Order: sequence, then C-alpha cells, then structure tokens
Amino acid sequence: MAAANPIGVFDSGVGGLSVLCEIRRELPGEDLLYVADSGHAPYGDKPGQLIEARSVAIVEFLVSQRAKAIVVACNTATGAAIETLRARFPLPIVAMEPAVKPAAANTKSGVIGVLATGSTLASENFERLFSRFGAGVDILIQPCPGLVEQVEAGDLSGGRTRALLEQYVLPLLERQADTIVLGCTHYPFLAPLIREIAGPSVAIIDPSAAVARELRRRLADAGLLSLEARTGTERFWSSAAPDQAQPVIDQLWRAGVEVWGLPDRSDGKAPSKK
Ligand code: DGL
Repeated sequence: MAAANPIGVFDSGVGGLSVLCEIRRELPGEDLLYVADSGHAPYGDKPGQLIEARSVAIVEFLVSQRAKAIVVACNTATGAAIETLRARFPLPIVAMEPAVKPAAANTKSGVIGVLATGSTLASENFERLFSRFGAGVDILIQPCPGLVEQVEAGDLSGGRTRALLEQYVLPLLERQADTIVLGCTHYPFLAPLIREIAGPSVAIIDPSAAVARELRRRLADAGLLSLEARTGTERFWSSAAPDQAQPVIDQLWRAGVEVWGLPDRSDGKAPSKK
C-alpha cells in the first residue's frame, strides 16, 4: 500500500459528501474516491444484512480502485457493518458515530436531541454510546424517516422538507433540548433549515470535521499520509441512474464533475462511464 494511493469514501447516497467536504478541507493533497449507493438509498429502512452486503461490495470496489484507507461516511452502514468491514479488510477504516459525547459535554439544559435513521438509533453502537455518555443527561432520540429521500432529491429547503424537519425538531425544543446531534451524514445539508427552525441558541453538532481529523491521524500512524504538495483529485461513482445521480452531485459538490456508474459486480474492472 502506498501513500500516493487514494482514500475511498462511501455512503448510502449523497449524504457522505458532507464528510467528503471536511476530508478535502483537512487533506487537500489526497486523491479521494466517493461511492454514492443512491440506487439502494435509504439504508435506514433496509435489513442489516443487506446494508452489510452492500457495504462489503462497495469496499471491495474501492479496494479494487487501490484505496489505501476507507471512510464509512454513513452512520447507518457503520451500525450495520463496521465489525465485518474491519475483520475483512486489512486497511485503516474510519467510521461515523453520532456525536453524543461532545453534545453531552456541551449541553447546559441537560437535554440533547439526536436526529438519525431508525436503524442507527436501534444499533448496538448507539446503545453503547447511550449508556456511556447518557448518565446525567436526557438524550431524546428522534428517528427521521423521509429526510434522506429529500436530500437525495436535492430538496434542501422546500415545503415538504421543512414540514418534516418541524415535525422532528420542534418536539425536541419543547422538551428543552439545547443541543441537536446530526446523526446521519445527509442532515448537515439541512443544517441551515434546522438552524432556522431551532433558532440561534441551539447548538447543532456534526461530527464530520472530527472524522476527517481522525482519518489524518490514522493515515499518519500507518505511514500512509500523502506528503506531496499538490492539489488532490476526486472521482465519483453512483449506483443510481445517471439522470438522478448527476444533478444532485452537481448541486451538493460542484457542478460539472464526472459521475460514473457503479459496476454491479465488484470484480475490479474499470467502471463503465455513466
Ligand atoms: N447518510 C446515511 C447515514 O449517515 C443515511 C442512511 C440512509 O440511507 O437511510 O446514516
């Protein structure tokens, strides 16, 4: 494995672009590969075994593209597959985790709200976080069905997105939550609207920047940090139809990037364009 190899990042869809953005900020010289499994999103309402199988297939694909490290930019895939991925792939794997620890340290009211998918909130990982950091703090868990779909459709501020967010956020405020954890990587794209609904005094916590710093540390420890002074590149694949994938990646990342079709089989062959 060489330091010049790229870093592989994946999510159930385009949500992990919020993490990719922080990785790019933290590691400007690294080449980044991103897989959006939008053809199978949302993961939140899928059985754990299917999420695990998708995660394994995507990591196999990223490894076939010479990834030197993997970022699971999806809380739901982390909950369902992280142990399997770590047992199966001998390379640094960095994963998401709802930021309950900093939220519990930050709250003044003693009440924090966690927005996430139902499966993240039901996962053993979350159970562990809850019992580790929940002492003395009231943790309100709020599953958010429908939000991932809104972000996948690029609807960050329309009427339905606002209505869903009000439905999920207002009850937390009524119960005095002063800190809201974004426990799904799609939600940072909704942070401006969440801020509007919650008001200026509520802290909104997104762990992406911490994940990017952890990635830097893991690469450095493994001697895999690229030390070249250069501007890194990004390559994108999606399992969604091209007319769905391209516009939303243009919107959430940058207009005009090339989005490749994710091959059905993880056989290491070059992906077929679109
Ligand atoms: N971005 C994924 C996460 O962080 C969304 C999961 C889904 O597709 O339901 O959990």
